[in-house]
Amino acid sequence: MSSESRVEEVKVEIAALVSRSKSAHELMSQMVKLLHDRMLKFNWVGFYMLEDGASSRPPTLVLGPFEGAMTPHTRIPLNQGICGAAASTGKTVIVDDVSKDSRYLACSLETKSEIVAPIFVGGKVRGELDIDSHFLAAFGREERELVEHCARLVSQFLDRSSGTS
Ligand code: SME
Repeated sequence: MSSESRVEEVKVEIAALVSRSKSAHELMSQMVKLLHDRMLKFNWVGFYMLEDGASSRPPTLVLGPFEGAMTPHTRIPLNQGICGAAASTGKTVIVDDVSKDSRYLACSLETKSEIVAPIFVGGKVRGELDIDSHFLAAFGREERELVEHCARLVSQFLDRSSGTS
């Protein structure tokens, strides 16, 4: 199967998930599982969400639903890692070779490339979808489009649940 038709199939499965999910947590848990199972180079898939009500300390990303090996990075300050870079700029970050990026926080020795796409609620970054691959440069145009699509679906779900749209 071409990567294009696999991505199209996965998008159909994700749309079905959105329509049957009763909560954002359920949607995110099912989404990481589906992406991990169906996209062969997506070897770690997880959400990080900005901690709520953290006025007394620097804003921190907290590990949410994920699929893959446990990571030592369960809490990431916004000034650290590829994850911090995506959340603080509000832009998707793709790293084709993590060994060449000094921002990278290692999760697994096998990881070679990474993508992080932000999730917005009410126009503000609220979290992100983070994916690691055991392959160099695993996130091309198709994959980026899929990951940003998934992040957007979660944004819309959260926006609806918080009554901001
Ligand atoms: N590599 C990320 C940390 C999270 S783990 O990959 C799951 C980063 O550099 O921010």
